[in-house]
Amino acid sequence: MIDRFGRDINYLRLSITDRCNLRCKYCMPDGCDMARHEDILSYEEFLRVARLAAALGVEHVRVTGGEPLVRRGAVEFVRALKAVPGVKKVSMTTNGTLLAKYGEALAAAGLDSVNISLDAADEDLERRICGSGGVVDAVRASLELMRSLGVPVKLNAVLLEETAGAAAGLARFAAGGVPVRFIELMPMGVGRFERGCDPDAVLAGLKRIWPDLHPVDARIGSGPARYYASDALAAPIGFIDAVSHRFCSGCNRVRLTSRGFLKPCLCYDEGADLRALLRSGASDADILDAMRICIFNKPRQHCFDTPQDMTESRLMSQIGG
Ligand code: 5AD
Ligand code: SF4
Repeated sequence: MIDRFGRDINYLRLSITDRCNLRCKYCMPDGCDMARHEDILSYEEFLRVARLAAALGVEHVRVTGGEPLVRRGAVEFVRALKAVPGVKKVSMTTNGTLLAKYGEALAAAGLDSVNISLDAADEDLERRICGSGGVVDAVRASLELMRSLGVPVKLNAVLLEETAGAAAGLARFAAGGVPVRFIELMPMGVGRFERGCDPDAVLAGLKRIWPDLHPVDARIGSGPARYYASDALAAPIGFIDAVSHRFCSGCNRVRLTSRGFLKPCLCYDEGADLRALLRSGASDADILDAMRICIFNKPRQHCFDTPQDMTESRLMSQIGG
């Protein structure tokens, strides 16, 4: 559906759990509160929202977390989402560590693409960021597995001060044909206590290695990344720099938290408590009305540059990135 600023909202992100088997320092610190199981929407509840969202024009659904694959039944959920009339594409954002176990079943369930989060190609550095060892090797294996199954893969890396010098190591995945996207750190949740690094400085550093890196018009997936290509790289390198390059005027997405709160913008805590409606016997028409109002009133833009205006206090693991 079209919101009050004329944007076509056709992309829904579903955070199916706030749990994760890693502890990336900018996302989910040790000891943070987890929702109780009964607070999290059931798959049936998520599917009902997805069906109604599709009726409002959502065509792409992304399954996120936390780490979506730590929730039992995630594969069957993907299969069910694929069967929702109007849903043309189902994708997943995952840390990749559980794809060895579930990748094949996900491909068979019809998963259209997968984004794997990895912040450094160096095991020691990655361990310092995500709190676990072996992740880089696991991600490499997952990339290969998913590609061999014909599921397109992208890599997502959050830019931190400590990983600025390691960007080239990740960019080399693009030489092997995997699009790599660098994500500017957003001051959300515990991310506000971390130091990010300037995407333009990272691009300048990459240009010293691949001098022919040049902007291209590539559009991969439903996101706002700006892509650069080099003859030496089989896939492009992207930047998702929401903070320094505001792309809100083309934003096409809404998010549903694992607790069933429909969020039209990352920065603000406003939205629609769909769980309350789902669990109070509301009709489809009632829920549709709440979704319509929420989506129509999607804020014009984020306010990362004036953090005092931010009203969202949820962690990224509760929102799903
Ligand atoms: N800023 C930017 N990206 C973040 N992610 C988690 N927290 C932040 C943050 N504060 C990313 C994860 C993952 C995606 C779901 O969101 O690294 O790639
Ligand atoms: Fe887990 Fe992803 Fe958060 Fe890391 S960024 S703690 S992998 S949900």
